[in-house]
Amino acid sequence: MDQFSYRDGQLFAEQVAVADIAREHGTPAYVYSRAAFENHYRAYDDALAGRPHLICYAVKANSNLAVLNVLARLGAGFDIVSAGELERVLRAGGDASRVVFSGVGKQPWEMRRALEVGVRCFNVESDTELDRLNEVAGELGVKAPVSMRVNPDVDAGTHPYISTGLKQNKFGIDIADAPRVYARAAEMPNLDVQGVDCHIGSQLTTTAPFLDTMDRVLALVDRLADEGITIRHLDMGGGLGVTYDQEQPPSPADYIGAMVERLGDRKLELVLEPGRSIAANAGIMLTRVEFLKCTDEHNFAIVDAAMNDMIRPALYSAWQAIVPASPRPESEQKSWDIVGPVCETGDFLGKDRLLALAPGDLLAVRSAGAYGFVMSSNYNSRNRPPELMVDGDRVHVIRERETLDDQLRHEHCLPQ
Ligand code: LLP
Repeated sequence: MDQFSYRDGQLFAEQVAVADIAREHGTPAYVYSRAAFENHYRAYDDALAGRPHLICYAVKANSNLAVLNVLARLGAGFDIVSAGELERVLRAGGDASRVVFSGVGKQPWEMRRALEVGVRCFNVESDTELDRLNEVAGELGVKAPVSMRVNPDVDAGTHPYISTGLKQNKFGIDIADAPRVYARAAEMPNLDVQGVDCHIGSQLTTTAPFLDTMDRVLALVDRLADEGITIRHLDMGGGLGVTYDQEQPPSPADYIGAMVERLGDRKLELVLEPGRSIAANAGIMLTRVEFLKCTDEHNFAIVDAAMNDMIRPALYSAWQAIVPASPRPESEQKSWDIVGPVCETGDFLGKDRLLALAPGDLLAVRSAGAYGFVMSSNYNSRNRPPELMVDGDRVHVIRERETLDDQLRHEHCLPQ
């Protein structure tokens, strides 16, 4: 499955040595594998073959046009959370009728645009959002397809910042209150109730929370049926975890198999919104060692990538593997903190990593395809890195390295 592996002591992305990529395109740089994106998507699609389903890739994980286009060519649907993501999907050749629109704060103009292009479903998160959507759809003279995102109050057992299915989180409608909200929606003239939606969190490494959620959601579906409201699809959100270190998450096939078993012979279409499990291990970030600085306390390797390029370690204390493009002998290994040039102590990519390093060495931060570039910024006025996609033995620039002019284009001094 892995498209990033060593051959003759050199790290490769598919058929290309990453050292060659760095020489040609500089560092830091994000490097993706087309085959990895495709394989990860297919693992979902194949597991659901023969059943009505829609795999809506969560655009937020990696929204580069080329990534969306590669997935659109495979027939993927998309999970969006803004009009910006919607336009990306359309420009990448995605099909609006395979798009679900999630998010707690949809604005009227975003709803309007989504209705105009004909998205598949709105995942509605509150009573007030229902009112707004009903009004916007009425203005356009259409019926908006809706699912209610219910909050099942299930502990996803993941990092608190990416856990979303607990009562105290801002997301969704309390499942206990859902029958009332569905009854309201069914009465609204410009809404068409289609499904039930949930998303309990991200980087889940066991199936149990998904199955607990499904039990609660299916009980709701049955109750709604008794009340005369027919649910056609069940959107179980995203959230399947990946291996960053030692985690052993279930495969898409195992997790889907378990859910399908729970579905039994219900005629529900299953919708999923995977992001990380498609994108994370389809990418790496290349960075070069600038200086080695050894103090009494620590050995620091100062590299040319920083928290602005990849914020997950600083923001969530996330651990991502950092490996050399060309490993040196193990006998030279020491423990290093891999830090960037940004003026913050929190600016690190990894701590206490056993590596043999010399200035100029090329390193790869693994599992960087999801929530990597999309969360980058210009902090410290640093140009954001390029994004490259390897396809066999070819390397495509799918986003150019930013220039200072790009950064300053939208800024203006006050008049004299
Ligand atoms: N659907 C909804 C409604 C979501 O909010 C999310 C992610 C997904 C699907 C995709 O979840 P995934 O399959 O990727 O777990 N920046 C954080 C992750 C934030 C996830 C937010 N929502 C990180 O770097 O770990």
